[in-house]
Amino acid sequence: MTLQVKSLAEYKDAYQRSVNDPEGFWAEQAETFHWQKKWDKTLDWNFKDPDVKWFVGGKLNITENCLDRHLADRGDQVAILFEPNDPSQANISYTYKELHAAVCKTANALKASGIQKGDRVCFYMPMVPELAIAVLACARVGAIHSVVFAGFSAQALADRIKDSTCKMVICSDYNNRGAKNIPVKKVVDDALAMDCDSIKTVLVHRNTGGEVEMEAGRDKWWHEEVDAQSADCPAEAMDSEDMLFILYTSGSTGKPKGVVHTCGGYMVYTCFSFRNVFQYQDGDVYWCTADIGWITGHSYIVYGPLLAGATTVMFEGVPTYPDAGRFWEVCDKLKVNQFYTAPTAIRALMAKGDEFVDKYDLSTLKVIGSVGEPINEEAWHWYDEKVGRGHAPIVDTWWQTETGGIMITPLPGITDTKPCFASYPMPGIQPILVDSQGALVEGNDVEGLLCVKFPWPSMLRTTYGDHERCRITYFSSFENLYFTGDGARRDADGRYRIIGRVDDVINVSGHRMGTAEVENAIDEHPNVVESAVVGYPHDIKGQGIYAYVIIGDPVPDEDAFRKEILAVVTKEIGPIAKPDKIQIVSGLPKTRSGKIMRRILRKVASSDTSNLGDISTLLNPEVVEEVINGALV
Ligand code: PRX
Repeated sequence: MTLQVKSLAEYKDAYQRSVNDPEGFWAEQAETFHWQKKWDKTLDWNFKDPDVKWFVGGKLNITENCLDRHLADRGDQVAILFEPNDPSQANISYTYKELHAAVCKTANALKASGIQKGDRVCFYMPMVPELAIAVLACARVGAIHSVVFAGFSAQALADRIKDSTCKMVICSDYNNRGAKNIPVKKVVDDALAMDCDSIKTVLVHRNTGGEVEMEAGRDKWWHEEVDAQSADCPAEAMDSEDMLFILYTSGSTGKPKGVVHTCGGYMVYTCFSFRNVFQYQDGDVYWCTADIGWITGHSYIVYGPLLAGATTVMFEGVPTYPDAGRFWEVCDKLKVNQFYTAPTAIRALMAKGDEFVDKYDLSTLKVIGSVGEPINEEAWHWYDEKVGRGHAPIVDTWWQTETGGIMITPLPGITDTKPCFASYPMPGIQPILVDSQGALVEGNDVEGLLCVKFPWPSMLRTTYGDHERCRITYFSSFENLYFTGDGARRDADGRYRIIGRVDDVINVSGHRMGTAEVENAIDEHPNVVESAVVGYPHDIKGQGIYAYVIIGDPVPDEDAFRKEILAVVTKEIGPIAKPDKIQIVSGLPKTRSGKIMRRILRKVASSDTSNLGDISTLLNPEVVEEVINGALV
C-alpha cells in the first residue's frame, strides 16, 4: 500500500521528499501497485503544450488493483455497502470477491455488445451498486467511461454523448430519490432522439421495475446481458497514459468540457490521497455522500477506497428523506468511521434543527470531511460540534475535477484545523499564489490567485477532443503554471484558505456551473433578447443564481414568464441550473466596447451597492439606477 503518514514529522518529511525528489517519491508510491509491466520513466512534462506523462511505458489495469489484488487478503471483506433510498429496505453488500465477479460478468457483457478498448461509454444512472460495477467493468475492458450526473436534462446528456461520440449508454429504468420517482430511461430516449448517432446500444438496469419502452435492436436489459456471463474476464493491459475516463465540467465559456484522466497517475494519487486524508484503517467503514456523477464520487467513492481495500458506502437517497436525520441515522446504523459531504448539505441540515443530529450515536466517527465549495464559519462550527463532537476533526478538502484528487487539506490528527481553511498541501502538491500579472506572491498573510507549479500524478491531461482548450483554460494565464481559477489567502502560518472562483464560474450547492452556460439556456426563450447571470451569496446553497433578462415583447404576467424561463433552463441543462431570481431589465450595464459589467451586476445581486466604482465611463450609465431600483432582495 502507498505511504500513510502518521504524524506531523512524517507529513513534513514526506512533503519535503516529494518536493526535493518528486520522481523518487511517486515511483515509491507506484511500486506498491500491481503493474503488468513496470514503467520506463517516472515523469515527462511541460506545462507549455501542456504534455504531462507519469509512469511512462507502464502497463496496468486499475481494476486489478481495485479488485484482484485484494482477493487473497480481503476477499470476504465488504467492498461496497449499499444504503437504499428507502430506509426500511435492507442494506446490500458486495464483498471484494462478489464485486470482482460482478465486474467481470459485466465486462464480458460489454465485450459481447462490441465494446472494445478505447470506446467511450456513457452512464446515466442513479446511485446503485450497478453504477460502480459497470464503471469498473468499463475500465476492465479498457473502455473510457463518461458518467453524466442523472440530474442533467436530455439536452445536456445528448451534448455530452455527442462530444465524446459514445458507443453505448448504460442507464436504469427509473430512479428513486427521496419521495420522487424519476424516469431515467425516458430521459435517455429523449437524448438519443437528438442525433446521437454514435450510440449503438443502451443497456438498461432494472432498478424500480417500472414500465419502460425498449427499442428493438438498440436497447438491452442488463439482467439478460450480464447474468449469464462468465465471471472470468482478464483485465485489458492499459498504458499508464491511456484514458481512464472523461468527466464533463463547466468553465467560464462555452459548453462544458470533458476533463480527461488517465490510468496510471490517477490510480496512484487517488489511493495515496484517500489513505492519508481519511486515515483509513482496516475494518473501518467509510462513507462519501457525493454522487458518482461528480469527480468526488469517482475518486472517493469508487477508485480511492477500492484501491485502498476499504469498505465504501454508496447511498441512493437524499439527506432530508425521510427526514433531516438521515445522514446521522445511517452513520449510527452502519457505524461509519469516516464521513465526507458538502457544505451545502451541512447548511441545509443545520437549518432543520439540532434534534435531528443530537439523537444519534456518532461515536464511531473519526474523521469528517467537507468538499466542493467554501464552508462558512457557522457551518464549520456546527459540523465540528454537532457531528465531530470532539473526536472527529474536520478535513476541509480543496480540489477540482481537473486535479483528480484532494490537493489542499488538513490531515486528521496530524495537522491542526482552523475554521474555513483547507490548510496545507498534500505531499507532492506545490501550490503558489500569483498576482493578476503573474508575479509570485511570497510570504505569509497574503492573497492571490491559486496556481500549482509542478505536475502531480492525477492532474488532467487534456480536454476531450480539444487540447487547445485545455491549454488556454489552465496553462496560458501564467507561464509554466497550472491555474486553478480560484483565489486564495495564505495565513501567517502558511495555511491556505480558498476564497472562491475568480472567473465566471459559480458554485451552486456544490455544483459547478458556468454563467455563460446558464445565459445560453435562458436565451433559448423566444422572448429573451439578452441575459446576464451572476452568483450571489445564498444561505444554504453557498451561491444562488441571479439572472438579469432583457425581453423583446412586454410580458403581461411576469410570474408566468419567470416560470417559462425556469422550464427552459431545466430543459437545456437541468433543475440544478434554475435561477433563484430573475430580474427583467431594459438594458445591461456595458462598457463602451460592449462588455457586460458583471462586477456591477454581482454587487446589485448581493445587495451591496455602496461602492460601485466609476460608472460614468459606461456606455449606458443610466441603466445602473434602473437595475438597482428593480433589484430582487
Ligand atoms: O472553487 C473551488 C471549489 O470547487 C471548485 C471545483 O469544483 P469541481 O470541479 O466541481 O470539484 C468539486 C469537488 C472536488 C474549485 O475550483 N471548491 C472545491 N473544494 C473546495 C472549494 N472551495 C473551497 N473549499 C473547498 N474545500
